[in-house]
Amino acid sequence: MTQQKAICHHAFGKPLEVLQLEEVARPEPSDGEVRVRLLAATINPSDYGMIGGSYGRLRELPAVAGREGVGVVDAIGHGVSRIGVGARVRFPDGGAWQETACIPAADVLAVPEDVSIEQAAISFINPPTAYCLLKKIVNLAPGSWVLQNAGNSAVGLSVIQMAKVLGLKTISQVRREALIEPLQALGADRVVIEGSGWVEQVNQLTEGESIRLALNSIGGESAMHQIKVLGESGTQVTFGGMVGDLVRFPTRYLIFNNVRMVGFWWDQWCQRAGKDGLDEVMSAVYTMMREGTLKLPVEATYSFAEYERALKHDKSPRLGKILLKP
Ligand SMILES: NC(=O)c1ccc[n+]([C@@H]2O[C@H](COP(=O)([O-])OP(=O)(O)OC[C@H]3O[C@@H](n4cnc5c(N)ncnc54)[C@H](OP(=O)(O)O)[C@@H]3O)[C@@H](O)[C@H]2O)c1
Repeated sequence: MTQQKAICHHAFGKPLEVLQLEEVARPEPSDGEVRVRLLAATINPSDYGMIGGSYGRLRELPAVAGREGVGVVDAIGHGVSRIGVGARVRFPDGGAWQETACIPAADVLAVPEDVSIEQAAISFINPPTAYCLLKKIVNLAPGSWVLQNAGNSAVGLSVIQMAKVLGLKTISQVRREALIEPLQALGADRVVIEGSGWVEQVNQLTEGESIRLALNSIGGESAMHQIKVLGESGTQVTFGGMVGDLVRFPTRYLIFNNVRMVGFWWDQWCQRAGKDGLDEVMSAVYTMMREGTLKLPVEATYSFAEYERALKHDKSPRLGKILLKP
């Protein structure tokens, strides 16, 4: 039986403690299935949640880690006609950090060939989330301000670039001065350093216009600052919790400013919106990638054998995704 490499875990826990590179049997496609060979996979915060056992949906153990990657069909089972060997597709979500995986042909998500492999690998979770955050929660008039924390995250960089395309203006909260210039080069209208007193100067930043939408993937103080500067009847959307702190809501803003707080989860949105909704969002993402109005930086690429270095790098200051290639 042919073997392949996979980054697996047999228990939930910290990635560097529970993950290991294993040799497993290479799967053969059953009737109606295709086998996909991985070209590149990403490391995302939700991978840590899935490996750690805290995410909204978990895999049965033992599991292959990783959620997002792009691949190419390298074998097809009996009865498959709608897709052929060589087609570029999303790597199956059930464990992207492995060399190949099988998926029913009916579930295959085709990926345009005129988008680079690196951009395609990053295209399935963060850019569509950013698009939904900007388009599907609050109806924003052109010229509206959007505030976000983790401005240098993949979602944050997508928000900055998509906002430009959609005619919106952004204020991005970051933790390092060194990020100001690169974010501005990508189209960020304002970049502010967390804890620098920017909250008191928000009127200067927006030239007196109110902020309708705040995007929070951090929690704690960072999220609290957003509530304090949101305009009357503004909305804060929480879609991540990088500090693992409670999202607190200062009562007076709820009462006197009618500020609203909602959540967003891409996985759930996809289920609700169905295939048509997914196609609409992915088509918008790929159009922007093709036109070059959306380009997400890659910080570094590692082989599977170097996955521990990749995970350590992922946790250090960076601007761009870490990719894994077999
Ligand atoms: N709900 C959904 O459907 C959904 C979908 C996609 C993403 N997300 C969430 O969106 C967030 C960003 O994901 P991503 O893949 O775009 O991230 P990413 O590219 O991996 O970047 C991570 C970001 O988190 C920041 N960060 C990490 N630890 C932090 C801390 N303790 N305090 C403040 N900031 C911290 C980093 O800032 P520094 O560079 O300063 O460390 C960086 O901006 C995550 O929370 C993720 O779970 C949610």
